[in-house]
Amino acid sequence: MKALILAGGKGTRLRPLTYTTAKQLIPVANKPIIFFVLEQIIQAGIFDLGVIISPETGDLIREALKKGSSWGAKITYIIQEEPLGLAHAVKTAQDYLKDDPFLMFLGDNLIQGGVKKAVEDFLKEDPQALIMLKEVVNPRAFGVAVLNGNNQVTRLIEKPKDPPSNLALVGIYLFSPVIHQAISRIKPSWRGELEITDAIQELLPMGYQVLARKVEGWWLDTGKKDDILEANRAVLDAYAKSEIKGEVDESSHLSGRVEIAEGTAIKNSVIRGPVVIDKECLVENCFIGPFTAIGEGSRLYNVGIEHAVVLEGCEIRDVPRIEDSLLGKNARVCRAENSRRALRLFLGDDAELVF
Ligand code: G1P
Repeated sequence: MKALILAGGKGTRLRPLTYTTAKQLIPVANKPIIFFVLEQIIQAGIFDLGVIISPETGDLIREALKKGSSWGAKITYIIQEEPLGLAHAVKTAQDYLKDDPFLMFLGDNLIQGGVKKAVEDFLKEDPQALIMLKEVVNPRAFGVAVLNGNNQVTRLIEKPKDPPSNLALVGIYLFSPVIHQAISRIKPSWRGELEITDAIQELLPMGYQVLARKVEGWWLDTGKKDDILEANRAVLDAYAKSEIKGEVDESSHLSGRVEIAEGTAIKNSVIRGPVVIDKECLVENCFIGPFTAIGEGSRLYNVGIEHAVVLEGCEIRDVPRIEDSLLGKNARVCRAENSRRALRLFLGDDAELVF
């Protein structure tokens, strides 16, 4: 069994951050999303991994995965020259995948509880495909599946104008090698992409079995800013620990689950977890509220912030309220004492905002 992780694409819905990074590398709870993906795959017992990368951000992905090479997995990188669809990515990876069954995992998707059970079910029940579904309120934004009374998949349609159900296709799939035949039979969709949804639909008239599993816990699809904040919230809620490795002075007060990494100093501040603060940060005269992640080497002075993702190397000074915000690497935000309303920011890497 192999796994194919899709870490290409242009991430247009996450600009400006994706001008300088890959969307799969944006951290939630201070860890790149793709690291969670790799961990979930390895937990499922798959160690032979193919990673689809784009020419633009491929080197960044390679570099990041090299740093985290303690997983013991064998990684093969496959370049997809153009983002021509998920089924096109599978086609591009055909030499790597050969005739092996595989788990396909979009590098910006995560599900609660991982994929171990789904992989076991797939191996045991031996269908040609197993898809995962989640009830959503906006099915038009996804691939959608229709099930009959026996929970069998009867139809799949990508981004339907008039959705026949509210069951979205999660970006995690299990395939037997017949998917390659199905892909060779489909044509690009209206958006010019070879859709994996169409290839799975194609399996049905070919007489193959497609199983579906509903995802019970959360599903995170981190394509946009608010999705990243929601992912950060869900991951902190599930995994944040109480662990202080840095220094917290006596005039500071911490409550709830708060992680402070080595070399970080907290001075005269209030922190209400779940919060994670990475290494070598300085936090002085601040209020840090729930669901906030602060990246390595950031410095915050006289700041109130909550429900936010701050990437590494940021500097924030004299801003009484920041919330629902995503700040790229090395962003600088200064002096907003006079603003009465909370700031909601989405800043790219190296952005500077001085009032
Ligand atoms: C893709 C798939 C879609 C699926 C979604 C899950 O959409 O085409 O069927 O529901 O991933 O994240 P895209 O991200 O290309 O819009």
